[in-house]
Amino acid sequence: MNEVWQGAGRRVFMQEVGPRDGLQVEETFVPTADKIALVDALSDAGPAKIEVTAFVSPKAIPALRDAEVVLREIRRVPGVVYSALVPNVRGAERAIESKADELNLVMSASESHNLANLRMTREQSFAALSEVASIARQGGVAVYVSLSCSFGCPMEGEVDEGSVLDWCERSVEQLGAHGVTLCDTTGMAYPPQVARLTQAFRARWPGTELTLHFHNTRGLGLANVLAAIDAGADRFDASVGGLGGCPYAPGATGNVCSEEIVHALELMGYDTGVDLAQLLAASRRLPALVGHEVPSQIAKAGRRLDLHRPPADFDVIRARAHERTGLV
Ligand code: COA
Ligand code: ZN
Repeated sequence: MNEVWQGAGRRVFMQEVGPRDGLQVEETFVPTADKIALVDALSDAGPAKIEVTAFVSPKAIPALRDAEVVLREIRRVPGVVYSALVPNVRGAERAIESKADELNLVMSASESHNLANLRMTREQSFAALSEVASIARQGGVAVYVSLSCSFGCPMEGEVDEGSVLDWCERSVEQLGAHGVTLCDTTGMAYPPQVARLTQAFRARWPGTELTLHFHNTRGLGLANVLAAIDAGADRFDASVGGLGGCPYAPGATGNVCSEEIVHALELMGYDTGVDLAQLLAASRRLPALVGHEVPSQIAKAGRRLDLHRPPADFDVIRARAHERTGLV
């Protein structure tokens, strides 16, 4: 067996999106102070970035209506980038005012999903994002673009890979995006497709940050992360506890779970920069925070070598077994 595993210390950047992508779907409002405490705990675990909140319409996403206070009052740890999702100019102004390090602009690679989620055609969204990008430039804040449904649309089915790359091109070349995130919004991505898009992106824009954002809707999350790494990706969005599932069907639509990805990548020899113990501690406080179980398998089972107590009568079992051996 080859002793040098493929990871061999290679850096993989983890971007925590639980406070935004996860909390946005929670039915019960998570109090502002608890959101701040969650982000602070996540900061201590050392991800490369945290998407702290979204400056969206409070009518559309009431769960994140406290975006300003959260972004202003978190403790900023040097080395961690604090980003915020913005859908429009109003969101960008609020985010810049609240000192977001980066703006994550969002549109969909699928026309139907863009209409459903943002109430605009993709062309209208792109025009609006151009305006947002120029405001961000004036404010000296870098913009990133997240393309929802890059791997499939729940209403349209396949999303043409060429057209996904066209939206990447327009984001990088016309909006001046520092990075693009290919989002698997509803868990439709599968490994060969992930490898194709990753390789195509890396070949065309080697200097642009590429992030992969998978949901574990169909259990393919970790397989997709590994396929992306093999194809040259090194940045992933993930959410603590696997938050993001529908509260009525836990685990159904959550992001890939941060601690599951970090745990797997560490075992494979990758350097995620994340302190898994701290991340797990934050994850284990989530059920009390959101009022329901979260999907994380690692929070439930522990890390691979987190040992469990033997049964209470273990000494008796051992003594009897040894007696039997003695009898043979
Ligand atoms: N911040 C605060 N308020 C905002 C806002 C923002 N970024 N954008 C719009 N609003 C408010 C408007 O002021 C208006 O309020 P009013 O009814 O009191 O006048 C209301 O929202 C509707 O504004 P309008 O411009 O007509 O937008 P819309 O109803 O077409 O909504 C979006 C468009 C995109 C702003 C809204 O649907 C939204 O925020 N969606 C969130 C999508 C999302 O986050 N999805 C998950 C992540 S991908
Ligand atoms: Zn998502």
